[in-house]
Amino acid sequence: MIKNDLFLRALKGETVERPPVWMMRQAGRYLPEFMEIKEKYDFFTRCQTPELASEITVQPIRRYGMDAAILFSDILVIPQAMNIEVQMKPNFGPYLPNPIRTQKDVDNVVVPDVTVELDYVYKAIKATKEKLNNEIPLIGFAGSPWTILCYCVQGQGSKTYDKAKKFCFTNPVAAHQMLQKITDTTIAYLKQKVKAGCNAIQVFDSWGGMLSPTDYQEFSWQYIQQIIDALKDETPVIAFGKGCWFALDVMAKSGASALGVDWTCSPKNARYLTGGNITLQGNFDPTRLYSSPEKIKEMVTEMINQFGKDKYIVNLGHGILPDIPLENAKAFIDAVKSYKA
Ligand code: CP3
Repeated sequence: MIKNDLFLRALKGETVERPPVWMMRQAGRYLPEFMEIKEKYDFFTRCQTPELASEITVQPIRRYGMDAAILFSDILVIPQAMNIEVQMKPNFGPYLPNPIRTQKDVDNVVVPDVTVELDYVYKAIKATKEKLNNEIPLIGFAGSPWTILCYCVQGQGSKTYDKAKKFCFTNPVAAHQMLQKITDTTIAYLKQKVKAGCNAIQVFDSWGGMLSPTDYQEFSWQYIQQIIDALKDETPVIAFGKGCWFALDVMAKSGASALGVDWTCSPKNARYLTGGNITLQGNFDPTRLYSSPEKIKEMVTEMINQFGKDKYIVNLGHGILPDIPLENAKAFIDAVKSYKA
């Protein structure tokens, strides 16, 4: 049994004393203890070494006492396991030197045996569960198939993902084959993560908002729906689509336990679009953590009042930024912990 089960209870829609809180990308560069490890080991070494990945996962918990931990890893371990080279370049981000651009490229992509290729992730989960000692739940995650395709085709981060969209719109048959290969790999991978000890799963559709509402259904949502269908009887699933408020109505009927919302959608509108019954997660503007601790506390309290304390998980609307002062991150977490309805 997990001692602090606020997060799991909120996912079930149960009444809670206060909403649970965690932060997307909470294990990261704003923490000096993270930077210490980052100086010594490159990115994928950190991901692939269970002792390092588990240590990084629990760092923010030790410092701030969030109500859930999220495994230190990356969404790009999936294309890597599919035999697509992924590099993490310092001060640049992900770089894939051989992007997927043709039918032949797609034919060459393998659907791997995830029990072998991603064994290091399950080992990291087991090591993390030992460190967490049943105090709080552990979240496992994957990128949405569309978001993974964005990196595979674009070859790097982008503001528009124009090359990824061009591939989908000029070669939809190959694009759908690629999306299905990613989906099949992701489902098998997430099932193993749950087996290894993850208590919930979040699917990050970071670039879903690049698509029009119609294209979103065709190129992104239908594959996330497959993932939810395959996982929902084994674990709670959170679907987070950045910039995807337009799809919240469909998402609410998917069988997901919760939906992530970014800061461009008001709590009221998110409740309205989702029918008021599903647990929502979000949606503090990450740059609002630049405000003073006093202002953060005031805004977080107001955000909880707006969403309501039940069926709600406090989070940012996207990942925490690297230059957020430590005391501001603390103010965010503490504001939730001291919340009184
Ligand atoms: O605390 C956590 O959230 C767990 C760890 C985590 C990382 N990446 C570690 C990481 C998670 C959940 C991710 C998910 C991820 N990775 C997403 C989806 C979430 C989102 O932010 O939209 C995406 C799009 C990626 C791809 C990715 N990985 C990018 C674009 C970058 C470079 C930009 C950046 O933030 O630095 C990464 C690298 C990465 N993944 C870092 C970390 C802590 C920073 C680089 C490093 O540590 O060397």
